[in-house]
Amino acid sequence: MTPDLLEEGARRVERHGAAPTGLNNTESGGRNASTGRISTPGEVDVTHGRILYLENVSVSFDGFKAINKLSLDIAPGELRCIIGPNGAGKTTMMDIITGKTRPDEGTVFFGSTIDLLRHKEAEIAQLGIGRKFQKPTVFEQLTVFENLELALKTNKGVKASMFFRLDSLQSDRLAEILVTIHLAGSVNRLAGNLSHGQKQWLEIGMLLMQDPKLLLLDEPVAGMTDEETARTAELFLTLKGKHSLMVVEHDMSFIRTISEIVTVLCDGSVLAQGTLDQVQADERVIEVYLGR
Ligand SMILES: Nc1ncnc2c1ncn2[C@@H]1O[C@H](COP(=O)(O)OP(=O)(O)OP(=O)(O)O)[C@@H](O)[C@H]1O
Ligand SMILES: [Mg+2]
Repeated sequence: MTPDLLEEGARRVERHGAAPTGLNNTESGGRNASTGRISTPGEVDVTHGRILYLENVSVSFDGFKAINKLSLDIAPGELRCIIGPNGAGKTTMMDIITGKTRPDEGTVFFGSTIDLLRHKEAEIAQLGIGRKFQKPTVFEQLTVFENLELALKTNKGVKASMFFRLDSLQSDRLAEILVTIHLAGSVNRLAGNLSHGQKQWLEIGMLLMQDPKLLLLDEPVAGMTDEETARTAELFLTLKGKHSLMVVEHDMSFIRTISEIVTVLCDGSVLAQGTLDQVQADERVIEVYLGR
């Protein structure tokens, strides 16, 4: 890692206002300690300004290259929007990051030390990468509260789950998340009785209970009313900084509300990247996507 890259990394961390764990006020000298810093197990090392790093990733399905030499990276605390035509490889990219699909080649790192290709899907979730699929998958028979509580029990054994009780820190977090996801007034409602948008928020809340460092959200506002979409934009802006987010969406007005950097995927690789205005003015983007 060159000094240039280190400085750029530090600038990116500052720009996104993130508070990368363990970088500041540490005895090891904080960010300036750079590569000499010993990383703590379970901690994501974002010293180099990247929480997620993909390089030359490819995957083929029956000879069809769904992802083709894809390279991109995301800064800690960043809210990155991903757009692109149907079949561009957006969902497949998330499958690769979360360990659902193994790429044929390439590099996928979480921070600068965790090689995600060495980990299984469940391990990746435990490392701090939460994923929201398009369809809400909440437990309809349970209340909002029970769904959130259950999110803490996942990955625990049967016995541990039976005797599981929220400690006070977890109760506080649950209460805070209820407010964040606009469901504080619906704690005891059955999830099955919530609106589509509320179910989506509940599922995001369930992910937040596990305090993920990186959240991957695939078409989160699809099927939402305009009002729900607006509230979701607010929610994502609240989460930004505390978490890093990768949001795939086709809804351009939603993207306009939340976006900083937008990455356009096409044919499995990055076609363009920049502000929404920049990519919307790009002839290649207009041709393959926006001008349809
Ligand atoms: N498991 C799989 N087996 C075979 N082909 C697949 C598999 N997963 C994805 N593909 C193909 O890879 C391509 C990329 O699909 P992907 O779902 O990633 O696109 P997308 O950008 O998410 O599109 P959309 O906007 O419609 O959700 C498509 O042609 C799809 O048919
Ligand atoms: Mg998709």
